[in-house]
Amino acid sequence: MLVFITVDYAELSREAARIIANAMRKKPDLRLGLATGDTQLGVYRELVRMHREDHLDFSRVVTFNLDEYIGLPAGHPQSFRSVMQRNLFDHVNITASQIHIPDGSPRDNFDEVCRGYEEEIRHAGGIDLQVVGIGKDGHIGFNEPSSSLASRTRPKTLMQQTINDNRHNFPSKEEPPAAAITMGIGTILEARQILLLASGAAKAKAVALAVEGPITASVSASALQMHRDVTALVDRDAAADLQHKDYYRKSLEMTRKLTPNRLW
Ligand code: F6R
Repeated sequence: MLVFITVDYAELSREAARIIANAMRKKPDLRLGLATGDTQLGVYRELVRMHREDHLDFSRVVTFNLDEYIGLPAGHPQSFRSVMQRNLFDHVNITASQIHIPDGSPRDNFDEVCRGYEEEIRHAGGIDLQVVGIGKDGHIGFNEPSSSLASRTRPKTLMQQTINDNRHNFPSKEEPPAAAITMGIGTILEARQILLLASGAAKAKAVALAVEGPITASVSASALQMHRDVTALVDRDAAADLQHKDYYRKSLEMTRKLTPNRLW
């Protein structure tokens, strides 16, 4: 894993957007895996700016979002579909047919939705670059602790901590969803490249466990250690509990000299 420690959230957002934009320029029909959550908002602002000012082209990109809440009515402002529209898709040259987000609208059985989502990813040729955030409990996507490291897209019950963390996005009288459809850890690990983003002191423990802890289903992000091409972009606060910060800085410098292509 290549660990890149940024000064702050602004630099993290710029670097993440630069990495995504470079991947899009290299492969205009990039299969791009996206995430929601507060961490991603600065990245989307930067991508929108690059579209407006630098003509960053989304016309052939195909996107797959990691997850979607279960049970919100269509058009709910906090559904991940609405959040993505508002923060990215409405502002760039992408059409509905290029966008994939699991359908979490109420129904009796979600098996078919989940199987269909896996099929759509396969049909598109797999995901080239998957962006993930990290929860305080170490989740990626909504793969909460105890998720199988081989899991595929499926409904997942959310930990109370995750529900509470999501609460600030919902009106005070509205209970946030207790479940979501999420790509599995096995699904995420099949992406060709993965970009992990983490910002703020609240993520420091989860980041340290994910990067330096043992691989365990109790911290689903630790499964990223098994992937051969992961870049972790973390700001100084989120990196606070990492033991080998100096080594990561040195290693990044060395990578710049020895294998600059690794740095996108
Ligand atoms: C959302 C997702 C989650 C978030 C994580 C961090 O699509 O997959 O794993 O990335 O919960 O959320 P924020 O960025 O709000 O702290």
